[in-house]
Amino acid sequence: MKKLSIHQLAFVIAGLVAGLVFVSEGTNLFAKEKQVVELPLGLEPFKVPADNPLTKAKIELGKQLYFDKRLSSDNTVSCASCHDPNKGWSNDEAFATGVDGQMGGRSAPTIINSAYFPLQFWDGRAKGLEGQALGPIANPIEMNLPIDKAVEKLSEIPGYRKQFKKVFKSDVTADGIAKAIASFERTVLAGDAPYDRFKAGDESALSPAAKRGMDLFFNKAKCSACHKGHSFTDLAFHNIGVGYDKDNPDLGRFAVTNQEGDRGRFKTPPLRDIHTSAPFMHDGSVKTLKEVVEFYNKGGIKNPQLDEEMKPLKLTEEEIADIVIFMKEGLKSKDYPHVDPPELP
Ligand code: HEC
Ligand code: HEC
Repeated sequence: MKKLSIHQLAFVIAGLVAGLVFVSEGTNLFAKEKQVVELPLGLEPFKVPADNPLTKAKIELGKQLYFDKRLSSDNTVSCASCHDPNKGWSNDEAFATGVDGQMGGRSAPTIINSAYFPLQFWDGRAKGLEGQALGPIANPIEMNLPIDKAVEKLSEIPGYRKQFKKVFKSDVTADGIAKAIASFERTVLAGDAPYDRFKAGDESALSPAAKRGMDLFFNKAKCSACHKGHSFTDLAFHNIGVGYDKDNPDLGRFAVTNQEGDRGRFKTPPLRDIHTSAPFMHDGSVKTLKEVVEFYNKGGIKNPQLDEEMKPLKLTEEEIADIVIFMKEGLKSKDYPHVDPPELP
């Protein structure tokens, strides 16, 4: 613990106090796993499912699986193909490309800070990281490898058999694959940005423009109505009109819940290190952060379910530029979560 700064220490203590609450539903990260993951400044402890505690060996196994193209039908696609650490844990395309060059209709969201999201995907259709991880392996337009085939394939690799024995005390299983990948994803964290250091009392952490942008973000532009909290998301679903200028827009959350009010609602994405993961929005339709702010300045795209927070903002050109600078500089983490592809068994 000697390496923690005073702020991190405060979070650890807060985490331990709050631990009483955390333990009832999941394992408090800090109670037992102090050494496994260090939380960057500004982030809060997250829950880990009680049946999937974080361990170093499991994270290591998950990292290998995450980068292993053998989890696809033709050995060409891994999770990292679409969620690439060098491309903001997303990819540079509007739509992700899977095996045989097949394309889906949505952009690949970043994995950064996904440890905090109880519901995964733009429409929240998967529960937690464990519930999400097997989807893309079997998905015909992503990795196209039925899960029993994936288990069979990995079982033939002695290095994986050995690690599953060590980590799960079992043969290779689908459940183990999901748990290991989820554990690795929980280590992809971004924090300790100028914004966090400013909040912690360092007045000089933000440039004057970034400071003006921050003020606009939280007040006049009302971005924080939805992008709030330490990961800049309310974890809720909103219709801001993306795609409504086209025929047959993607209905987002509606397809999951069948609730009228959910038409065109998508999950509020997190914003830390957001400058690394263009293009933006669920359909990759917005290319730059400046265009994102211009989109909001117009009040989004009109449609019957447009969120009531979406109104023209009357921002000046300079104000738009300042908000962009706040996102680019103010939310840029000191230690971007770079991960090099590991050696595979
Ligand atoms: C072919 C590209 C592709 C591959 C390969 C792929 N993904 Fe994805 N991933 C996507 C797309 C596109 C979405 C968004 C889909 C949606 O919301 O409907 C997504 C969503 C996710 C999310 C949800 C993030 C959030 O904020 O809601 C997670 C987590 C994720 N993928 C992890 C993985 C893992 C783990 C693997 C490997 C087992 C993987 N992905 C493989 C394209 C891909
Ligand atoms: C009413 C809620 C709401 C408000 C207010 C709001 N956002 Fe968003 N934001 C969202 C949702 C929902 C999405 C995803 C929409 C989609 O893809 O269809 C999004 C997407 C984004 C993205 C793209 C992220 C990515 O990974 O593609 C950025 C950047 C962003 N918002 C910044 C801002 C800024 C800056 C403001 C203020 C000017 C703002 N938002 C105001 C809900 C909101």
